[in-house]
Amino acid sequence: MTQHLAAPAPAHVSTEWWRNAVIYQVYPRSFADGNGDGMGDLAGARSRLPYLRDLGVDAVWLSPFYASPQADAGYDVADYRAIDPMFGTLLDADGLIRDAHALGLRVITDLVPNHSSDQHDWFKRALAEGPGSALRDRYHFRPGKGADGELPPNDWESVFGGPAWTRTSNPDGTDGDWYLHLFAPEQPDFNWEHPAVADEFRSILRFWLDMGVDGFRIDVAHGLVKAEGLPDLGSHDQLKLLGSSDGGTPFFDQDGVHAIYRSWRKILDEYPGERIGVAEAWTPTVERTANYVRPDELHQAFNFQYLGTHWDAAALREVIDTSLAAMRPVDAPATWVLSNHDVTRHTTRFANPAGLGTQIRTAGDPELGLRRARAATLLMLALPGSAYVYQGEELGLPDVTDLPDEVRQDPSFFRAAGQDGFRDGCRVPIPWTVEGPSYGFGSGGSWLPQPASWAGLSVEAQTGDPHSTLELYRSALAVRRDRTGLGAGTDVTWLPDAPAGVLAFAREGFVCTANTTGEPVRMAAPGRVLLASTEVTCDDGEFDLPADTTVWWAV
Ligand code: NOJ
Repeated sequence: MTQHLAAPAPAHVSTEWWRNAVIYQVYPRSFADGNGDGMGDLAGARSRLPYLRDLGVDAVWLSPFYASPQADAGYDVADYRAIDPMFGTLLDADGLIRDAHALGLRVITDLVPNHSSDQHDWFKRALAEGPGSALRDRYHFRPGKGADGELPPNDWESVFGGPAWTRTSNPDGTDGDWYLHLFAPEQPDFNWEHPAVADEFRSILRFWLDMGVDGFRIDVAHGLVKAEGLPDLGSHDQLKLLGSSDGGTPFFDQDGVHAIYRSWRKILDEYPGERIGVAEAWTPTVERTANYVRPDELHQAFNFQYLGTHWDAAALREVIDTSLAAMRPVDAPATWVLSNHDVTRHTTRFANPAGLGTQIRTAGDPELGLRRARAATLLMLALPGSAYVYQGEELGLPDVTDLPDEVRQDPSFFRAAGQDGFRDGCRVPIPWTVEGPSYGFGSGGSWLPQPASWAGLSVEAQTGDPHSTLELYRSALAVRRDRTGLGAGTDVTWLPDAPAGVLAFAREGFVCTANTTGEPVRMAAPGRVLLASTEVTCDDGEFDLPADTTVWWAV
């Protein structure tokens, strides 16, 4: 497909649209099912684009829909230029991009450059051709240690549990070399030192840019380059696995990754309409994250430090300040995110005590969780920068914490013998209608079971109810659009003398107050209420900011 045939960019071309964009994550298999096979698809997503326009987001990020055996829900790509038949065809992708643009929505696709599927043509041929195949150099094949090569080449562990190496069989049936996979064995890591790998991804970028996409979310952006010689890690403590600030983790956050993003930025800049790159980079500090968004690299990076912060004023203030401070010197927007397809939804995280991490299997106190989640959303959407919304959070969906083992599909659940890997709980298909076999998700059921209580959380049930979470998101996004200053800039002004447990900051003509405590807090009203996450009554002067509540004020 050539560039002049590509779906045109949205009409309302603004400059640097990505600096304050609200970007909605569609997880295609769980968003909307167009053909009634129980699995979401591109036709389904396309039919729901008007809903996203009306919600008031600026862009849609779609998790992978490429040809894939689905060993890791599509993050194992067999063909980067083809759509998996379960999601549709290239024509469906083209139609979706065109419709989105016509509605004024941008489209960001997921790019998975750290690893391919073991069913990728290169890897299949590398195995079939046996030791000595030149294609093996495009991955990390190594002889094993021990007398018969029976031990893995080094001590690295897979993020999903178990060794990061799998031994191959030679074409003659004898035991062969091992290959590296930081994730599942079905996801062999590319060797980014090989020029063919870099060339191939530059070509893949152009393929999708020519299709008209507005950017890429780059999976495992911190993992592409491994330390020379693949040295032992020497320890498996969790912090080291996140990448250490001294470059001490040999497979994550190596300085070498940045040359790759500099070369990609040149390609993005060749295209009209401000195409962007977003790094999924888990780094130990926001300062390390800032390296990915230097002016000649990517445009945004996810703020996982923010996502990992509990509903606590002091902790939130610190992460907001350090995030803004880290982004200022590189002139990149801060980003804010509360949920995605890899973590327990924030409604459920906030329903549980702090300190349980981002993979939780207890429902906790759902009422408290929802109340805090609504407050956290208003806080997030009042901050300068770009915000991410994960499908279903606008409905206040909790995680499904009681999925039976037999329906689970997360590979890490199986690799860790059921001790870990609860990502299925945030991936349950979302409810659209009060009735119907899968609450309007599709006509043929849903690939993960939905709780009966979700009828009442459906889009249909919440639409028009002024107290619903969906209407809160719609109102908040409308206010954010009207007051363009809300997402702009790099600063907040903290108000002096905010009571303990309350966050209070000013933006132009605007104040946000968030009470993270479980008690009402008496304080001076800073202005006129614009929006509140729970009902507030405020006469002039003093008022009670209710427990776990955020209020937006016009001043
Ligand atoms: C991050 C993705 O978000 C996650 O879903 C996936 O399992 C890993 N990267 C591996 O691709």
